[in-house]
Amino acid sequence: MSQNTQNPDEASRDSSAPADSKIDHAASIRYWSSLPSTTSNMLGMLGTYPWYSRIELQGSKNFLSKVRRLVPALQTDGKFSLGVDCGAGVGRVTEGFLRHVCTVVDAVEPVQKFTQVLEDGQLKKDGVIGDIFTLGLEDWSPEKKYDLIWTQWCVGHLTDSQLIQYVSRCRDSLTESGIMVIKENLSTDAGDQDMYDDEDSSVTRTDAKFKQIFDQAGMNVIKSEIQTGFPKQFKLLPVKSYALRPKI
Ligand SMILES: C[S@@+](CC[C@H](N)C(=O)[O-])C[C@H]1O[C@@H](n2cnc3c(N)ncnc32)[C@H](O)[C@@H]1O
Repeated sequence: MSQNTQNPDEASRDSSAPADSKIDHAASIRYWSSLPSTTSNMLGMLGTYPWYSRIELQGSKNFLSKVRRLVPALQTDGKFSLGVDCGAGVGRVTEGFLRHVCTVVDAVEPVQKFTQVLEDGQLKKDGVIGDIFTLGLEDWSPEKKYDLIWTQWCVGHLTDSQLIQYVSRCRDSLTESGIMVIKENLSTDAGDQDMYDDEDSSVTRTDAKFKQIFDQAGMNVIKSEIQTGFPKQFKLLPVKSYALRPKI
């Protein structure tokens, strides 16, 4: 995720090893821990452009409204009782979006200095942020039922098999009408391969890989959408949101 522009990594293309086999969790944590705990640092090289965060948060709001119309029990204007921001960083998504659609938002994030920001912040004092788990998603086993599980720009730190297991645990922790959303960059590799990013030790997956993983985790994609509204001249990686519901 540290690279959000189209700049395929030549070294990773040459290697025949699966991209996710290069993921090193300790290296990822070192990378993120080395950055100052600011909202702009959550957005890689695009963090210097405030419009980028604004546009994508508005896109998430619009996407969720469309998803709610597809689930009969959610066709009201009411807030979700309990959501969770997964790979929350310093709470950019909760601050700019989730707090407007959920009464309480839990947070999962492995970097301690980021969860400290959440612990010390006004949203925690106001009770908007609920429980905070300082954990990687690969180690998080939800113990509550959630109406909304939002996971954005962080599953590149999980291997394919960890991601299948994570999505599958989330499937079991959704309320009856609950929704899981995964919003991530997509690979633009010419050979349709996932791309490895050495800087933060993460992978950027293809759309086909995501669909395969969701299927293996027992989830249906009930809606998906490419984020629009980013200026074309930046040649950004496509960003896609997937709304998931358990297969019946
Ligand atoms: C690009 S930032 C995105 C933060 C937030 N989701 C947002 O959109 O503002 C990536 C986040 O993933 C976190 N991360 C790194 N390894 C992770 C893991 N194994 N599980 C969950 N999150 C992880 C990083 O610490 C960082 O906060």
